This record gives sequence, structure tokens and C-alpha cells, in this order.
Amino acid sequence: EFKAKNGLDKVIVLWTANTERYADIIPGVNDTAENLINAIKSGHPEVSPSTVFAVASILENAPFINGSPQNTFVPGAIDLAEKNNAFIGGDDFKSGQTKMKSALVDFLINAGIKLTSIASYNHLGNNDGKNLSSQKQFRSKEISKSNVVDDMVAANTVLYKPGEHPDHTVVIKYMPAVGDSKRALDEYYAEIFLGGHQTISLFNVCEDSLLASPLIIDLVIVAELMTRVGWKKEESQDYKGFHSVLSILSYMLKAPLTPPGTPVVNALAKQRAALTNIFRACVGLQPESDMTLEHKLF
Ligand SMILES: NC(=O)c1ccc[n+]([C@@H]2O[C@H](COP(=O)([O-])OP(=O)(O)OC[C@H]3O[C@@H](n4cnc5c(N)ncnc54)[C@H](O)[C@@H]3O)[C@@H](O)[C@H]2O)c1
Repeated sequence: EFKAKNGLDKVIVLWTANTERYADIIPGVNDTAENLINAIKSGHPEVSPSTVFAVASILENAPFINGSPQNTFVPGAIDLAEKNNAFIGGDDFKSGQTKMKSALVDFLINAGIKLTSIASYNHLGNNDGKNLSSQKQFRSKEISKSNVVDDMVAANTVLYKPGEHPDHTVVIKYMPAVGDSKRALDEYYAEIFLGGHQTISLFNVCEDSLLASPLIIDLVIVAELMTRVGWKKEESQDYKGFHSVLSILSYMLKAPLTPPGTPVVNALAKQRAALTNIFRACVGLQPESDMTLEHKLF
């Protein structure tokens, strides 16, 4: 109706409403597409409003992106998207502290600097800050902010033994006086050569909304573009789209949703390289290589 009334070719839906609490995954309620649809019909309390919006978008084949941290995409929602070949992407805009972290941690660990503790404090005074002062909503944000270093630590088996990881804490406090001008304080503590230690302190002040808004535009533009990208094997006739879960959007998202069973990449440079190289492939170019052999061999 909205599409017809406004004469639109395509609609992309993006959730940028309040952070919700995590939904419990309950067998028979939100574990499969069918159960989730029935749970919505019966008004089950464990189905979040954002999941209802996601399901409606999937059924309309409108790409749905979740800019908030909660688990909108319960297994039933992912199952439904796969069955309908509809695009979904999430979770949580990667705007400030986590963006710095996903670049800095990758750089430090790859440089052989063994991070042993990452302490992240935030205070902000906008409505999101107020909402996050509620424990259940904060827990959603804590989860989406906490997993960001996991893949980079696990990938470096020289620095870290299996299962070993840095201490990592995230604190968020509501301080109305600072309004939208969010403060993020980070301390990175690391072991360096010969048992020495390095401490890096960051103090990042920025307008929360002004960091998020360009990400919203980029997410919508890339998601729309992906609705027009098809691929096929040389010998086959039919073009297919990408997997329903658009992990290509990871660069803009704090806790990237990936197709079930596939790895999550948090490192910012790798996420950007994936974007660049997929779009190079779309116009028939080879992936970018930083070998620059033309300047090194002759
Ligand atoms: N830099 C950023 O601003 C940033 C970064 C990452 C994630 N986020 C996430 O984006 C979301 C929005 O942040 P914000 O600062 O704009 O929050 P906000 O509280 O200022 O705005 C949320 C809006 O959503 C509306 N709303 C609440 N429940 C709704 C529902 N069920 N249906 C429709 N609308 C509903 C509220 O009335 C409010 O206007 C939050 O989850 C936040 O964590 C923001």
C-alpha cells in the first residue's frame, strides 16, 4: 500500500527504533519460520516488535536491516528470509567506539602486540542512553559490543593459546548533561617485547546521531544494490542472488549477522576489502592486491 501510494519501485526497511531486550529462543515459538508466524498470529510475548517488522518486510520481499543490537533475527526469522529469498542484514550500527576497536585491535594483534585487557566506558545523555540504563536493554548492547575482538584473537594462534583471550569489559552510563555528544573512554593494555607492557588510552567525543546517519544511508544504498546483483556458474543458465543474510553489510555493523554456520569477520579492513572486491568483481575487475609487484620486481 505504502509502495503503491508513493509510486515506489522498491522499499528498504531499516530498524532504528529503541534498543529492545534480547528475546529468548523458545522451541515451538521462534525457532522456525512456521512457528514464528504462528507466534505472531497468537501475539506471543516473546516476539519483539522489531521481529514483527522484520517478518512483515521479509513477506513483502523488502530488505530489512537492523540498526539496533537486539536479536531481532531469531532463527525463525532467518529461516523465513531464506525460504522467501528475502534480504536481511544486521545488527547494530558500527559508529564510534566499536569502529575504532575493530580497526585498532586488528592492527595491534597483527603487529604482535598481545592485548591482555580492553576496558571500554561510555557515557551519553540522549534517549538511547536513557533506554540503555535499563539492565535488559543494556545487556543487548553489551553482547553486540563484546564479541567484536573474538575472531581477531582466535585467528592469531602465535599470540593466544586456544581459548585464551583478553579481558574485555563494556560499561555504558546515562549522563543527561552531555546529550547526544557521546563520550567513549578506552584503555588497551598489552604485553610487548621481553615482558614489557604498553597502555593505550583513548578518549573519543562525538555526536552519536551524526555518526549513525551516514551509516544508515550507506546500508540502504548497498542493500538496494545487492537486490540487483546476480551470479551464475559459466555453464548454468540461471542467475542467483546472494544469500539472504547480507554479510557484505558487516563494515557498517557492530555484530555482523552472517549466513548460519559461516564465520563472522569483525576486522574493519577485511570487511572493507570484501565490499571493494565484491564490487570490483561486479564490473569484471580482479580483487585488489596490495603486492604492487610492478614497483618491487624491476
Ligand atoms: N550512533 C548511534 O546513534 C547509534 C549507533 C549504534 C546503534 N544505534 C542504535 O540505534 C537505535 C536508535 O538510536 P537513537 O539514538 O535514535 O534512539 P532514540 O531513543 O532517540 O530513538 C528511538 C525512536 O524509536 C521509537 N520507537 C520505539 N519503539 C518503537 C516501535 N516499536 N516502533 C516504532 N518506533 C519505535 C521511539 O519513539 C524513538 O523515537 C538504538 O537501538 C541504538 O542503540 C545508534
